[in-house]
Amino acid sequence: MRPAQPLLAAAAAVLAAAFALPAPAQEGAADPLERDRTQPVTNDTYVRLCTGCHIAYPPNFQTADAWQAILDRLPEHFGAEVPVPAERDGQDLAQYLRDFAGRPGLGVLTGVEPDAVPLRITELPFFAKAHAEVPDRALQRAGGAWRCEACHPRAQEGSFERARAGGQK
Ligand code: HEC
Ligand code: HEC
Repeated sequence: MRPAQPLLAAAAAVLAAAFALPAPAQEGAADPLERDRTQPVTNDTYVRLCTGCHIAYPPNFQTADAWQAILDRLPEHFGAEVPVPAERDGQDLAQYLRDFAGRPGLGVLTGVEPDAVPLRITELPFFAKAHAEVPDRALQRAGGAWRCEACHPRAQEGSFERARAGGQK
C-alpha cells in the first residue's frame, strides 16, 4: 500500500464529516452543496422526452414528490397528453428527477412546506416574487408563464438572469 492512501482516507473522512447533512445522503444524488443551485440539465432521456412543448425545467425547480406526481399523470399533463415513457426511459427519468430534485425550503423552493406537492413551478412562491414587475400581458405574449424560454433565452442552460421583459413567441 502506498503511504499516501491512509492520509487520503483520513482527509476524505474529515470532509465527509464537515459536509454531513441532517438527512442521510442519497445514493447517486447530486452533491448536496450544489443540489439547490439551478444547473443545466444533464440527462439525455429527460431532454428527449420532455422538450417537445417546453424546456426541460431544471430539476431543482420541483421537489422529488412533485416530479413523481407529474410523471404519474402524464396522460393528463396540464391539459396536454404526454405518452407514458417505455419502462427503461421511465426509470431513468424518474431517477434523474428524484436525485436532482430541489429540497423544500431551499433555493427556488423557499417557502414550500416539507410535505407540499406543488405541481406548477409558476405557482411557487419564488415565481411571484421574481416576476412581480412583469406585467400580465407580457406573460400572455410569451404564450404563458410556463414558457420560460420566451423571456429567458438561456433557460435551457439553467440561466435565468437578464430576461427579456417583453417575451417572444
Ligand atoms: C405534448 C407536449 C408536452 C410534453 C411532451 C411535455 N409537456 Fe410538460 N407541459 C405541457 C404544457 C402544455 C404545459 C402547461 C400548460 C399550461 O399551463 O397551460 C406543461 C407544463 C409542465 C409543467 C408545469 C409548468 C408550470 O406551469 O409551472 C411541468 C413541471 C412539466 N410540464 C413537466 C414535464 C415533464 C417532466 C415532461 C416529460 C415527461 C413534460 N412536461 C413533457 C406540455 C408538454
Ligand atoms: C414574460 C416573460 C417571462 C417569463 C415567461 C418568465 N420569466 Fe422569469 N423573469 C422575467 C423577468 C423580466 C425577470 C426579472 C428581471 C431579470 O432578473 O432579468 C425574471 C426573473 C426570473 C428569475 C430571477 C432571476 C434572478 O437572477 O434573480 C428566475 C429564477 C426566473 N425568472 C425563472 C423563470 C422560470 C423558471 C420561468 C418559467 C417557468 C420564467 N421565469 C418565466 C421574465 C419572464
